[in-house]
Amino acid sequence: MRSKLIAGNWKMNTSWEEAKSLFNSVNEFPSNNKSMAVCVPACYLAGLCPAHPNLSVFAQDCSAHEKGAFTGEISAAMLASLGVKGSLVGHSERRQYHNETSELLKRKVDQLLANKLTAIYCIGETLEERNNELHFATVTKQIEEVIGHLSSTQMKNIVIAYEPVWAIGTGVTASNDQAQEMHAHIRSFLKTTFGEVANDIQILYGGSMNAANAQALLACEDVDGGLIGGASLKVADFEFIYNA
Ligand code: 13P
Repeated sequence: MRSKLIAGNWKMNTSWEEAKSLFNSVNEFPSNNKSMAVCVPACYLAGLCPAHPNLSVFAQDCSAHEKGAFTGEISAAMLASLGVKGSLVGHSERRQYHNETSELLKRKVDQLLANKLTAIYCIGETLEERNNELHFATVTKQIEEVIGHLSSTQMKNIVIAYEPVWAIGTGVTASNDQAQEMHAHIRSFLKTTFGEVANDIQILYGGSMNAANAQALLACEDVDGGLIGGASLKVADFEFIYNA
């Protein structure tokens, strides 16, 4: 049986004082049957680890390289040495603004797994792709190209986050039916590729999830949690979603 995971992606927000205050508040939410994670700016990782057992700290990105002369990069081994649980990989903002390709993302996933970390692998179609009915093909290709080479054992350290690009930061959320339909498609493709382990892989929904829509989205059979941007910066909203 899959447990639910509520993950906040702070993106490039908060001062260090704000980050500590937000983190301490989240760290004190009375625990329920869901797990929680926060994906925080890299410069705050060392100061925020470790969290209590129900809250994991994640990075938002990591290097595709193991180590060496790569100025400005942060390796998966460095994240592991801090007690970080893992990292987001392939967020659409990184694909779009930093031209991250499938080939690069595949190497990032490999680095994380080699260091026994979890990759939250983000996938999702643009509005144009959805309007042209290419949304299923797009996410299938994103899975095939970046994690298709993994073994079913390695897939135990992968969380999928389906984030339709048109829903991120726009206030437009996928309908419950659209989310369930896509999550079922993803699980069915994972089953074909990796077998029964697909039943245990968490598939999160992301894109304008908030206190008003979280409960209905999280009630969908194949929605195993949320990856929350804007609403994760507001303590009351994030707590409401965690309890939804
Ligand atoms: P919003 O919740 O602000 O739409 O962001 C979603 C997201 O990109 C999480 O990674």
